[in-house]
Amino acid sequence: MITGGAGFIGSHLTQKALSEGLGVICVDNFNNTYDPFVKWERIAAFRNHPNFRLYSLDIRNGAALEQLMDEYPIDTVVHLAALAGVRPSVTDPAAYIDTNIRGTLSILDSMRNKGVRKLLFASSSSVYGNSPNAPFKESDTALAPISPYAITKLTDEMLCANYSELYGLNIFSMRFFTVYGPGQRPEMAISLFLNNILQGIPIRVFGDGRSVRDYTYIKDITEGIFSALPYINGFQVFNLGSGRTISLNELIETIETVTGRKAIREYFPEQRGDVRATFADITKARNCFGYEPSTLLADGINNMLIYRSLRTELPSGITAE
Ligand SMILES: NC(=O)c1ccc[n+]([C@@H]2O[C@H](COP(=O)([O-])OP(=O)(O)OC[C@H]3O[C@@H](n4cnc5c(N)ncnc54)[C@H](O)[C@@H]3O)[C@@H](O)[C@H]2O)c1
Repeated sequence: MITGGAGFIGSHLTQKALSEGLGVICVDNFNNTYDPFVKWERIAAFRNHPNFRLYSLDIRNGAALEQLMDEYPIDTVVHLAALAGVRPSVTDPAAYIDTNIRGTLSILDSMRNKGVRKLLFASSSSVYGNSPNAPFKESDTALAPISPYAITKLTDEMLCANYSELYGLNIFSMRFFTVYGPGQRPEMAISLFLNNILQGIPIRVFGDGRSVRDYTYIKDITEGIFSALPYINGFQVFNLGSGRTISLNELIETIETVTGRKAIREYFPEQRGDVRATFADITKARNCFGYEPSTLLADGINNMLIYRSLRTELPSGITAE
């Protein structure tokens, strides 16, 4: 079962699972935090695959989840469904607490009630917040989340650890570091920048451009998840990042090089809730399940460019943007 299977990461993971011969039960409520058409478009390629089942429902509906767990022999739940943006969580924390914490609790309770034992949970680098100890290690106890979103993810991790302890669920919590690639959420920086630069629209740069991020290509994430699945046992936390950092200025320059266009930059103050740096120490994932991210930023962005050009060639009657 993949929750959030029509999302950016979920759709890539589903594609990989189907290509590996696995069956996938996709649970997604197609919410409108961004255009749901994008989600339908992502799953179009495998919508009719014989090993794929789509359930348009909310993860907070525990009775419906339990019905699916009765109906199908579910081995593992990969729980990706969440409100995923950092900035909107500052303006609407209640929605984040409701979806991300109550939703995760509903997944855990359903698993416990129906005897589904293995969970891979999508956590986030944001739980480190402005921790001074970069590169961030999973053993860091100086976690300093600075957004309601990050607080929901850290709370979820604690719930997962607790359910593992109380009920023997086996759970890996993966802290993803800014994931990018074809089909990335449209409001994320790389998608936005790429779109605007190609159309000659100004890009909004928050801060002085020296904030840094560890950007991780989607294929490295899906391969990391797949390598981890056979090892899920007890409760453990892993960083899934690239192990490298890029400044915002370098990111924009890379997009300029890949597209061959100049960005028009408009500078704004730093956004509340945004951290100054993310940087993953990936030693633990490398040692435990051979995680080895390899995609260079320019190559990943180039793949996004190719995907974008393919989308604009959709048959008439379907508009991509
Ligand atoms: N993309 C990143 O850079 C990144 C980084 C760190 C962590 N994460 C986490 O990874 C997960 C996937 O992120 P993404 O970028 O693919 O986001 P996404 O928004 O594209 O995917 C999330 C999906 O969950 C669905 N969903 C939301 N609430 C739901 C609910 N109540 N019931 C059922 N479905 C619901 C949405 O419709 C969406 O399709 C999220 O948990 C996110 O917090 C992502």
